[in-house]
Amino acid sequence: MIISTFEEYNATYKKSVDKPEDFWSEIASEFYWQKKWDKVLDWNFDEPNIKWFINGKFNITENAIDRHLPEKANKTAFIWEANSIDANHRVITYQNLHDEVCKVANTLKSFGTKKGDRVCIYMPMIPETIFAMLACARIGAIHSVVFAGFSSSALAGRIQDSDCKIVLTTDGACRGAKDIPIKAVVDEALETCPCVEKVLIYKHTNTPITINKAKDIIWQDVVPSALSTCEAELMDSEDVLFILYTSGSTGKPKGVVHTCGGYMVYTCYTFKNVFQINTGTDSKDLFWCTADVGWITGHSYITYGPLLAGASSVIFEGVPTFPDAGRFWKVVDKHKVTHFYTAPTAIRALEACGLDFVTPYKLDSLKVLGSVGEPINEEAWHWYNNNIGKGKCPLVDTWWQTETGGILISALAGVTPTKPSFATLPLPGIQPLLVDDKGNELFGNNVEGNLCIRFPWPSIIRTTYGDHNRCKEAYFSTYKGLYFTGDGCRRDENGFYRITGRVDDVMNVSGHRIGTAEVESAINMHADVVESAVVAYPHDIKGQGIYAYVIVPSTTKNHDNLRKEILAEVTKIIGPIAKPDKIQVVSGLPKTRSGKIMRRILRKVAEGELTSLGDTSTLLDPLVVDEIIKGRL
Ligand code: WTA
Repeated sequence: MIISTFEEYNATYKKSVDKPEDFWSEIASEFYWQKKWDKVLDWNFDEPNIKWFINGKFNITENAIDRHLPEKANKTAFIWEANSIDANHRVITYQNLHDEVCKVANTLKSFGTKKGDRVCIYMPMIPETIFAMLACARIGAIHSVVFAGFSSSALAGRIQDSDCKIVLTTDGACRGAKDIPIKAVVDEALETCPCVEKVLIYKHTNTPITINKAKDIIWQDVVPSALSTCEAELMDSEDVLFILYTSGSTGKPKGVVHTCGGYMVYTCYTFKNVFQINTGTDSKDLFWCTADVGWITGHSYITYGPLLAGASSVIFEGVPTFPDAGRFWKVVDKHKVTHFYTAPTAIRALEACGLDFVTPYKLDSLKVLGSVGEPINEEAWHWYNNNIGKGKCPLVDTWWQTETGGILISALAGVTPTKPSFATLPLPGIQPLLVDDKGNELFGNNVEGNLCIRFPWPSIIRTTYGDHNRCKEAYFSTYKGLYFTGDGCRRDENGFYRITGRVDDVMNVSGHRIGTAEVESAINMHADVVESAVVAYPHDIKGQGIYAYVIVPSTTKNHDNLRKEILAEVTKIIGPIAKPDKIQVVSGLPKTRSGKIMRRILRKVAEGELTSLGDTSTLLDPLVVDEIIKGRL
């Protein structure tokens, strides 16, 4: 289903609310099912227990690859652009993709990998990473992709939590001017992961590696000689497709579980409608999502959505500023990218480098621009729209989450209206509402509250791996009968939605979700730290920066050294993305009499909003606030 006019959007939206099962059944019928579903939907948000396309049997890779082969065997599935400007790009057709995925699938099978086994993928942005994900899907193994910037201890935690049997990795990764020895990180992680039986290593950078004879196998030694056909495992709609770890407001990251049927239907439907891309056999449309497959955006809009739709995409190994801040635009011109999807943090970083890096490029192939991952401020929106889109490309601000699987609120490019810094309208099939802190619905327009969804959509989170109660507590318990997003939101006079940011203790740093609790627990590992509290504050480029308050004994005199050590500790335990931007040493933290840290006050101080701290008289020690204000960084 492709919605082509605003009138059609309105009519389709109405139908999706009045007759959701008919609506989704029609969309799901566009796919190849070996056995059709018996019932479209069964659900309750109390347990929660959500099932879509019940008893449908199929394999997502037959839909993402095989189904396209009769007409699109020679169509480009991916163009891979390397980090290095001097390296040749690679073109992978749908036929190549089929063959490579089958070879990796057969290799995994030869290790004894079966349906339901968990496979961890810790790899950089190269085509083999996509082959690896799809190879798992082909044989019914569950992939858990871990962003290759996470530390060995973060990787180990994720491998242990889902009891992965296999790890796929590379010798090294190139990011900008850096060469990162990825395999060494895996080696360190595996010291605490006895569950892992085999490690398959793709040689990418020729970084020297240590080989563990019992487990390690070099990709190039086995994959090229594997068979290039592999029968697809028959999967049930509700069989698990993948686990993706994401940060919440408490505790360790949780493994968000997505299942095959609903995820397939929803990612393809949203990809086609939001981006309005022509996926015809001879179409020159070329999609480029700059995310990393270590995050949900890469799963849904690099790997699954575009392939399910039969589109052509760019995958990029590098970073926006290497070798200079014109790299994105150079790649756009080089490959004639038509649809470009990136994060506000990248836009702001490039804006800060100046137009000299933009003007050398034509950018005349671009038709549609997208934004994802965090609220896009008006200034960045206009810069992107004017200088990259030249005012002629619809700019879709797409709001969604790891837990939602695909885009929920966004304009449809060129079809529905856009408004700077507004995600605008829900996609047909999505029923958002705003509630106040007590859970009362806020009706009408011009209201602001907490964003919830009242009805399931096919790719809604099913559970958190190994701990269903955590899923219930995190998303379905705050407001009874509703899915709670954790985001604050305003609905304007026209009914357009504007996401204002998280209302819980989740930070969004450069579009990456990081829990305050995780960073605190990493900081607390430093021997001198007695206690810490972490909050987010507005940051010009990253959207949010991390501000840490730490208590250390008065005997710790060298605070510069301490700061360095804390940064090293956080890098070791989580990864460089979680490093605090500011570390303030304090003698105490503002706490209530019951011992709860008043983060509201710490946030205000970090933001520099010193006049609106609210009532501090109920604090255990109100004087500590004065000290914190004085020492503000
Ligand atoms: C935020 C990323 C405003 C939001 C796809 C959400 C956004 C969290 C937008 C999910 C947007 C994502 N406008 N905020 N267009 N997109 N967010 O799980 O706070 O990495 O809850 O998924 O990012 O982050 P996640």
